[in-house]
Amino acid sequence: MQVVNTVLDLKEWIRSTKQSGQSIGLVPTMGFLHEGHLALVEAAKAETDVVAMSIFVNPAQFGPNEDFDRYPRDFERDSMLAEKAGVDLIFAPSVEEMYPNETQITMGAGSLANVLCGKSRPGHFDGVLKVVTKLFHLLQPDAAYFGQKDAQQMAIIESLVRDFNFPLQIRRVETVREQDGLAKSSRNVYLSEAERIEAPKLYEALQRGVKDAREGQDPILEMIRLIESETSGTLDYIELLSYPDLQQEPNAQAILALAVQFQKARLIDNIIFNLKEN
Ligand code: PAJ
Repeated sequence: MQVVNTVLDLKEWIRSTKQSGQSIGLVPTMGFLHEGHLALVEAAKAETDVVAMSIFVNPAQFGPNEDFDRYPRDFERDSMLAEKAGVDLIFAPSVEEMYPNETQITMGAGSLANVLCGKSRPGHFDGVLKVVTKLFHLLQPDAAYFGQKDAQQMAIIESLVRDFNFPLQIRRVETVREQDGLAKSSRNVYLSEAERIEAPKLYEALQRGVKDAREGQDPILEMIRLIESETSGTLDYIELLSYPDLQQEPNAQAILALAVQFQKARLIDNIIFNLKEN
């Protein structure tokens, strides 16, 4: 496994990989790897000749009061896990390497960012679009792998690639969970012991909500009751929308998603499902 920190070295690796006719799978991450990230690597390995992983905590997608500075980082451990999982290249640039100059040009997710996390994290998805566009151009992957855990991000990136003819495939990978149902996340390390015990209630509430929605009932009130009575977290949102276009009042493919703020961690989770199937 090779580790490169500069765009110049990356270009050299891309040039020789392309020259040898190998297809490239890209797994973009912010590091502090867990089995969720490694499931993306596994999916990439099954479909492409070589797998490149980016590890970059992207300041552009963090708001001024968010956790950019204290976002967990452990490059040693990440590179060990990545190598074991069969990653061929890690691209881990510094902020200066990634953003050497201020740009006047911005990218916006439009109404796709007016719901779910976009509503409570203004500018977040614009920052994701910025970094992902740069990564796609720098790494020139044949396919890039994203997790359903961040379903709004996945929908926005799919739209970017489709609407602007980026020459790559976007692949969806299902959410990897702990044994008790909690979605794996780099931010789970911020949970207190008591919060960690409550956290699986989020997925339980989602499962209950999916059942109710399929039976034609409005799932939201009961989910609010469950979360408020069984966790100490503060509910940010629960929304039932169509997927991937994120419109109100879905009638077939839907997403039920929530975000809950605990003391030091904001957790998100969702289920994408067909309203018509039982
Ligand atoms: P990060 O939070 O590190 O996640 C990297 C990728 O791993 C994302 O596609 C995310 O959806 C996926 N992922 C995280 N937890 C998962 C889980 N439990 N199961 C399956 N997949 C999971 O998402 C980002 O970084 C950034 O926004 C990024 C796309 C890298 C742009 O900066």
